[in-house]
Amino acid sequence: MTNPPTQHHFNHLLITGGCGFIGTNFIRHLINHTDIPHITNLDALTYAGNRQNLVDLESNPRYTFVHGNINDRPLVNKLIASADAIVHMAAESHVDRSIIDASPFTQTNILGTQTLLDALRETDPKNNKRFLYISTDEVYGHLPLNQPELKFSESSPLLPRSPYAATKAAADLLVQAHHHTYKANTLITRCSNNFGPYQYPEKIIPLFVHNALQNKPLPLYGDGLNIRDWIYVDNHITALLAVLQYAPSGEIYNIGSNCEIANIDLTQQILYILNKPNTLIEYVEDRPGHDLRYAVDVTKIKQQLGWHPHESTFNKDLEFTVNWYLKI
Ligand SMILES: NC(=O)c1ccc[n+]([C@@H]2O[C@H](COP(=O)([O-])OP(=O)(O)OC[C@H]3O[C@@H](n4cnc5c(N)ncnc54)[C@H](O)[C@@H]3O)[C@@H](O)[C@H]2O)c1
Repeated sequence: MTNPPTQHHFNHLLITGGCGFIGTNFIRHLINHTDIPHITNLDALTYAGNRQNLVDLESNPRYTFVHGNINDRPLVNKLIASADAIVHMAAESHVDRSIIDASPFTQTNILGTQTLLDALRETDPKNNKRFLYISTDEVYGHLPLNQPELKFSESSPLLPRSPYAATKAAADLLVQAHHHTYKANTLITRCSNNFGPYQYPEKIIPLFVHNALQNKPLPLYGDGLNIRDWIYVDNHITALLAVLQYAPSGEIYNIGSNCEIANIDLTQQILYILNKPNTLIEYVEDRPGHDLRYAVDVTKIKQQLGWHPHESTFNKDLEFTVNWYLKI
């Protein structure tokens, strides 16, 4: 870092989708590790959102839960008007569901984001409020397995391949358009695959833990060689806070911890932690259009904002995560 970036301070953050996996971890971090006085969580409580995740915080005067939809414009106008920054992470997030029916993804991920941006434009004509959109590395599409040196940078083209990723990319572009056209005070992050506590058990890690515990097969797509770039959720959260507090308006940052693992290796590691046999692995028909490999270059966030993932190892964080699922 050459010049220390300006720090932004917040009195009232509006989080969308705070009852989901990342939102729950994010709000717990904000309450426990920051002194931001007011945090409002707007969540529609879809199948993926669980109010119980944060119910213990509902008596905390710093936390307010609002049950509502990001497509409800009057509600969104009111909430944005009283916040000084918005962290938008509400989404339909499961690729397999988007392959079966993309319309809820279009409704929430594209139209919901547009509703928030319109409300921002109406209630914040001077563009004072920071608007952080939680995009994903899946907007870049995928990389070949045989060129490990390739990684996506923030200027890589957006070439999404699943309906989920296409709707996230559409929203990502709308956010960029609002910055360029209306000078909206926007920020975008594109993070790799998260793991940690509170993930809905349709995603690979909690699903495989649940199945293994019941000695049920672990359905592994294709040959299991597809590679994901894993990051522990707490590292994503410290990166989001760094971006929200220090990034210049309009910037885009990749977030990742340089931890590429083939699905088969991840699966075997989960079985090892649980002391279960590899014979529980069941190879199933591949996901249509299954992305081969994700990998993000995170030089920009490290150099510009001084962010680094914490020192722990993937295996240690995975063991903690698996043990967390054993306790619920
Ligand atoms: N999980 C990952 O590995 C990962 C990686 C990169 C980016 N992301 C992005 O981070 C964000 C959060 O991901 P997650 O894994 O926590 O998702 P999640 O599915 O666990 O949670 C999504 C939350 O959004 C809420 N929601 C859905 N539609 C809504 C609507 N119309 N109005 C209000 N609330 C609504 C749900 O109730 C739920 O609480 C998403 O935008 C996702 O695209 C996730």
